Amino acid sequence: MIRINNLFKRHGTLDVIKGISLEVKTGEVAAIIGPSGGGKSTFLRCINGLEMFQGGEVQVGPHSLTPDTHPRRDAKKLEAVRRTVGFVFQQFNLFPHLTTLENCIEAPVQVLGEPRDKAIERAMEMLNRVGLSKKANALPRDLSGGQQQRVAIARALVMRPEAILFDEPTSALDPVMANEVLAVMSDLARQGQTMIVVTHSMNFAKNVSTHVHVFAEGYDVEHGPPSQVFGNPQHATTRSFLEEASSD
Ligand SMILES: Nc1ncnc2c1ncn2[C@@H]1O[C@H](COP(=O)(O)OP(=O)(O)OP(=O)(O)O)[C@@H](O)[C@H]1O
Ligand SMILES: [Mg+2]
Repeated sequence: MIRINNLFKRHGTLDVIKGISLEVKTGEVAAIIGPSGGGKSTFLRCINGLEMFQGGEVQVGPHSLTPDTHPRRDAKKLEAVRRTVGFVFQQFNLFPHLTTLENCIEAPVQVLGEPRDKAIERAMEMLNRVGLSKKANALPRDLSGGQQQRVAIARALVMRPEAILFDEPTSALDPVMANEVLAVMSDLARQGQTMIVVTHSMNFAKNVSTHVHVFAEGYDVEHGPPSQVFGNPQHATTRSFLEEASSD
């Protein structure tokens, strides 16, 4: 579904991603963990074309992004990539002036050209799936952070993405709200939704993901099934990171 081959990314003179390859098959959940500044967010942003890169290739379904991909000239391709992979941000990024339901029908109506009634029907289904159908007419400011994040997940789901990228979806939330969001994400994973999740939740990485990747200083220093990465970490960086994380 998603294949990244030898990705290099520079910000100015700083090498941020130094040759990372990673593959996610349909139905798999990849968790990316690792110390701050390791390149996790940048990596996700390269996958759905929010950032361009200097080396390697990103393949998303039938679409391929390369260093030659141009934000304007290849706008159509980038749009197709973003339809194929949804993105859920740390800070929710809901439209503040739109209700929950309006947030969820905006893209289907404006981007996909779906009839409004069909879009509403699907949005209500997805809001129900994240436990928020009763909040359809609420504005974001009247929702808790956890509820806003669940709306953001519903908003991604209405587009029928083949995969969803999550960038620390719970790190702006208190533990109770974080658990509500993680429960929704675990449900999605169980139902076979392909996902790449950058997370500080070691429990999620351990119990829900199919593969764990440890990013540090622009490298994927260690990856494997969670039982291996958590149970028998090989790399010193992984060991010290897991030690730090468990004392949080
Ligand atoms: N737009 C930018 N311009 C310059 N440098 C940047 C930019 N975005 C990120 N960086 C740098 O790239 C490196 C990787 O950043 P990134 O945000 O991808 O890390 P991260 O692993 O997501 O960290 P965190 O866990 O803190 O979210 C950092 O050194 C960061 O300062
Ligand atoms: Mg980040």
